[in-house]
Amino acid sequence: MMLAFFILALVSQGTRLVASQRLPANIFILAGQSNMAGRGGVINSTKNGNFTWDGIVPPQCQPNPSILRLSANLEWVLAQEPLHADIDYNKTNGIGPGMPFANAVLTRDPAIGVIGLVPCAIGGTNITHWAKGGFLYDQLVRRTQAALKNGGVLRAMLWYQGESDTINREDADDYKGRLEKFFKEVRADLKHPRLPIIQVALASGEGRFVETVREAQLGTNLLDVQCIDGKGLTLEPDRLHLTTPAQVQLGQMFAHAFLQSLPTPIRTSSNSAATLSFLVSDHFVGFLFYSTFLFVGLQII
Ligand SMILES: *[C@@H]1O[C@H](CO)[C@@H](O)[C@H](O)[C@H]1NC(C)=O
Ligand SMILES: *[C@@H]1O[C@H](CO)[C@@H](O)[C@H](O)[C@H]1NC(C)=O
Ligand SMILES: *[C@@H]1O[C@H](CO)[C@@H](O)[C@H](O)[C@H]1NC(C)=O
Ligand SMILES: *[C@@H]1O[C@H](CO)[C@@H](O)[C@H](O)[C@H]1NC(C)=O
Repeated sequence: MMLAFFILALVSQGTRLVASQRLPANIFILAGQSNMAGRGGVINSTKNGNFTWDGIVPPQCQPNPSILRLSANLEWVLAQEPLHADIDYNKTNGIGPGMPFANAVLTRDPAIGVIGLVPCAIGGTNITHWAKGGFLYDQLVRRTQAALKNGGVLRAMLWYQGESDTINREDADDYKGRLEKFFKEVRADLKHPRLPIIQVALASGEGRFVETVREAQLGTNLLDVQCIDGKGLTLEPDRLHLTTPAQVQLGQMFAHAFLQSLPTPIRTSSNSAATLSFLVSDHFVGFLFYSTFLFVGLQII
């Protein structure tokens, strides 16, 4: 009976040990506006003028124990669609590129380790909203710093934004300068001067100046900034948002761009950092306590 208790205690600690190994080794920021937050499968019901998500999650977007997301409460949880539900909370969220991206990376490089996604996108935001000092900028930096607290490596920022900057000619003309400033400031504040950034050249826009913004995106001339082209991806009837199949395709394009930019497949050493932080945590102290207890217990039996 006592032995059973000890074994139970040990087993329960064992699951915690396993859980500790599941901290993300590879951290990715997801930022931008609605097409990054995800509107795949969201329809404006003609009956009541409400936006509802159809709830369809294709195989490429299914949860995977090796994909976590940082919740609005700054906790690592199993990642599930819609990824941005608690971040872009004023809107109806659907399928975005984050899950198909992470699943595609794991399929192509299974040894990469656990992926941690940090959703930060908010629908309807223009590039000025993302300027340093504003809420969105601060939230991005704060959430990323929290994500890195227990180890892991910041691998890239996936960025899809600009639809709201296509309405006025002046805003479209200023987009390139504002975007590059934003990228530079994020890198400086995250102390990662060559943080890989993968951005999307717009598939759609709210106004007439889509081509001007696309040119800015395709012509961004900063080291380690890649641009994948969203042109031609299928859109919902609103002609603004990517459909679920288009988001799956985009996620795979992100994954391809990320993996081909790596010099060699990642064989992480960052898991050891995560384990190390566990060793100094109170879970470990508890584990030591139980171990000692078990040892003494076995002596008695
Ligand atoms: C949604 O649909 C309703 C009813 O058809 C329409 O009045 C409304 O303008 C639509 N809203 C948007 C944002 O498209
Ligand atoms: C959406 O539709 C439901 C059901 O018709 C209704 O109860 C709800 O108030 C609507 N919400 C909004 C924001 O219009
Ligand atoms: C949600 O809406 C409220 C009220 O308009 C606003 O104060 C808040 O900033 C919005 N938050 C997001 C994330 O859109
Ligand atoms: C961004 O949106 C804000 C508020 O809606 C507006 O004041 C500003 O002019 C917009 N800026 C751009 C570049 O579109």
